Amino acid sequence: ILKTARSFREVGTRRIKKVPTLRGRTVCNLFFEPSTRTRISFELAAKRLSADVINFTGDAKSSLSKGESFKDTAQTLQAMGVDAIVVRHSSAGAPQRLSGWVEASVINAGDGAHEHPTQALLDLYSIREHFPSFQGLRVGIVGDILHSRVARSNALGLRAMGAHVTFVGPPTLMPPAIAGWGVDVSYSLEDVLGSLDVVYLLRVQQERQSEQLVPSLREYATFWGLDGRRVAMMKPEALIMHPGPMNRGVEISAEVADLKRTIVTDQVTNGVAVRMSLLYHMLGTFERPGAPDAPQEPVESAPAEPVTLGSLHG
Ligand code: CP
Repeated sequence: ILKTARSFREVGTRRIKKVPTLRGRTVCNLFFEPSTRTRISFELAAKRLSADVINFTGDAKSSLSKGESFKDTAQTLQAMGVDAIVVRHSSAGAPQRLSGWVEASVINAGDGAHEHPTQALLDLYSIREHFPSFQGLRVGIVGDILHSRVARSNALGLRAMGAHVTFVGPPTLMPPAIAGWGVDVSYSLEDVLGSLDVVYLLRVQQERQSEQLVPSLREYATFWGLDGRRVAMMKPEALIMHPGPMNRGVEISAEVADLKRTIVTDQVTNGVAVRMSLLYHMLGTFERPGAPDAPQEPVESAPAEPVTLGSLHG
């Protein structure tokens, strides 16, 4: 996925940012939770691949407000012939459940406090742009680990690629049974800052907290926020990352958010390319059982090298 994303990243730099790869395919964005980056990024990714896109939010304008179930909603979309459903839901496991009800490919765009796999993929891609290898790379994921689907997916992805992960934060924001994660834990940001190649900051997810786990956001900022003084403790080449949305003045100061080494906007740009790559891998072949035959039109504009995609264009 990351290798193919390199080619799609190049498509995003062209004047006409579009290839015909998924012409005739339909992608539905099914979002039951707020999103800016992920929803727009998936929409843009599908459109740049020439797919048709439907945006569906489970709000008062849909029949969910009249009592229709998640399953019936999904099967309604299936009956209209969607090829992929990108789903964000407040319940952990919702995308997996959905995948049992529909033939369409299902992509998890964030499920509760469980996982956010495409965020992790775009983060891996973004880190790889700055370091020759993941082997031995030291990544600190800082903040509200307990409620963070981004922390879970990144820990899995980074470890799979050979990086070393440290969860950093107050004990109240660490998940229980962390031993099986294969990560180190630190309760002091300043103890580990100087050893990290990547400082990955998380938002304090107040919407997922049912009790007061930190005394105040001001105290959080004092002990866990990354400000200019703490940046001075980091390795000169170390990166600062954040999945967004950022709370400036809480986990990251405004001055640090705007530093060159803070690659938040690069993460967003790379997110489109990585999601194009993912959609391409899931929908770009017509050889899946039950998939319609490939249209016969010639490929008009394939992504450039280094990865050859031409043979799989519809
Ligand atoms: N990083 C992320 O998932 O952002 P959104 O909630 O805006 O999609």
